[in-house]
Amino acid sequence: MRCAMILAAAGSGTRLGAEVPKAFVPLAGKPLIAWSAGAMRAVRACSQLIVAAPPGFEDCVREFLGSCEIASGGSRRQDSVAEALKIVRADMDLVAVHDAARPLVAPDDVERTLAAAAAGGAAILARRVTDTLKEVSGERIVGTADREALWRAETPQVFAPDVLREAFARWNGGLATDEAQMVTAAGYEVRVVQAAHWNPKVTYPADLELIERVIGRRR
Ligand code: C5P
Repeated sequence: MRCAMILAAAGSGTRLGAEVPKAFVPLAGKPLIAWSAGAMRAVRACSQLIVAAPPGFEDCVREFLGSCEIASGGSRRQDSVAEALKIVRADMDLVAVHDAARPLVAPDDVERTLAAAAAGGAAILARRVTDTLKEVSGERIVGTADREALWRAETPQVFAPDVLREAFARWNGGLATDEAQMVTAAGYEVRVVQAAHWNPKVTYPADLELIERVIGRRR
């Protein structure tokens, strides 16, 4: 099985308050993107690595990662992924989209998601919600969700290449915060694969501190 891995790495990292784009923020001695690229390369099916880079930082990505293909990212995540999708090779069986901001994803979780997508055409790594979720208007609670039916969508999100291409072609142009949203809107079933390992996303400075501490303990 051959899988093209798209690393969505063009985010600015405004919430992180860093001076460099989020992908280049140092984490335990190397840039964040080196961790997430390493996680993708650790998967046997990884046959093409495409990085959606922050515009103007394409050479930095090449310098940090060595051999990989680069697409220039867009203003929204979906625009970055669309650019990367254009250079997925024709001989790929699957395409996986992974947040560069998730440095610790476990190869076992990636492989189980690939297997589910190979069987059904579309699958994402996800996790059951354990908190009670409130709908809030202003500062007032207006609803409580039934958490039995709720999962947190993580990455990788993995698809048959034609399924993902069709979903992008048919999407209404609005904001989509993940690919599964576009693929379900195109009428395809997307399976969830329960994550077995911690797969945090770096968003705030506190996320970096916690992940760094965990890496330190694992070493
Ligand atoms: O903003 P958010 O945390 O949802 O971003 C998830 C991933 O999408 C990050 O790895 C980020 O670099 C990427 N992204 C991107 N292009 C954008 C915005 C976000 O590749 N324009």
